[in-house]
Amino acid sequence: MKRKLISPDFYPNFEYDDYALVKKILKDKNSWINGPEVEFLKFELEKFFPGAYIFLFSTERGALEFFLKFYLRNKQNKKVATQGFTCFVVPKAIINAGGKPVFVDIKEGYLNFSINELYQVYKNHPDISVVITQNTFGVPNELEEISNFCRENNLLLIENLAHSFGCKYKNTFLGNFGDIALISFGRSKVISSIFGGALIIKNREIANEFKDYYEKLETIKHKRWLFRTLLFSYLMQYIRKNYNTYGKFLGYILRKLNLTVLDISEKEKRGGNEEYTVKKMPNAFAKIALNQIKKIVKFSEHREKITKIYLKEGILPYGENPQYSEFYYLRYPITCSHPNKIIEKLKKYNIYLGNWYHSPLAPLEKRLDRFGYYYGMCPNAEKLCLTILNLPTNILTTQEDAYLISELIKKNI
Ligand SMILES: Cc1ncc(COP(=O)(O)O)c(C=O)c1O
Repeated sequence: MKRKLISPDFYPNFEYDDYALVKKILKDKNSWINGPEVEFLKFELEKFFPGAYIFLFSTERGALEFFLKFYLRNKQNKKVATQGFTCFVVPKAIINAGGKPVFVDIKEGYLNFSINELYQVYKNHPDISVVITQNTFGVPNELEEISNFCRENNLLLIENLAHSFGCKYKNTFLGNFGDIALISFGRSKVISSIFGGALIIKNREIANEFKDYYEKLETIKHKRWLFRTLLFSYLMQYIRKNYNTYGKFLGYILRKLNLTVLDISEKEKRGGNEEYTVKKMPNAFAKIALNQIKKIVKFSEHREKITKIYLKEGILPYGENPQYSEFYYLRYPITCSHPNKIIEKLKKYNIYLGNWYHSPLAPLEKRLDRFGYYYGMCPNAEKLCLTILNLPTNILTTQEDAYLISELIKKNI
């Protein structure tokens, strides 16, 4: 029986050096809010987006909401096209910014929408002014066609890199095809700073105008919340490593003492924002992101290695992928007729598989209408939600783990 926890969730990117850094940060309160690392992180990000303007936020959802509030403020047409196989925080940000989400279905047999699905939606909603692509699980959208379409029709193209920071299409890093790009440094993303997001603006005029607007935004200043977040993150190493012995119990105690810090809160699920949702990134998070960005190539190579094991073991990923792309599965998507049963069965081995996205607006199971979604809007997405399951590819998943997962999947599928 495995002792440790294997999962694409629960801080999948944190290694020993990240925990040691969190410990050091915990002791250095004076560098939590302000410090040079925010600028250093921007410098590192510029290497992926040459010539672009970079703004750091407390979360990606906060960056999207704040930017759209700015962009849509004087626009008559406030519709924003986004994929109906996503995290609900995307349409939530659109609505909170005064926009109206219009959902685009994914292409049948794919993880993203193609130009055809976008065109169909545009025909019915010619008053759309923004399009968001998602690059689900790291797999790029067909970006050349989509960006040409957006340019021809004067639509602002936002590339959401929540799953795909560091991936390429036609030899170019994603985020360089649209007008705007967004990165998430959330816990289960490509790299993590516990919470965090970046907004990348290519156009100088938009960036200059946005700068004044951004200056007025506050940094997270709530030291008690920062302490709780850093402490909980630090303790996660003990939960993961010793899951079979005291780790699970420690997690339970922290939950009971209200010391856990969740990715998404209940208030957010009802449409609200937490105090930390739309803020500038505090220096403490920039320090962690800087340590992680140094490891992005190592993480990607590891994801590739784990993917090859699943393939070798005959476990095929769901979805066709565009040609000329170079990507790393953030999570390895497979489909089966009874995903929940498999999730439950593997828990016995301390393997917690992912369920992105078991709902067109995950993780919501009801009241999707709060965020503008009604069942029937995206039939392909709804069908995929019933059968999808995600296997881990993160750095803490060893090759041995991948073989064990493959064996258990084959036995139970
Ligand atoms: C597709 C997608 N976009 C955006 C986000 C939001 O990222 P953040 O947690 O940094 O707000 C997520 C989070 O899961 C996501 O899956």
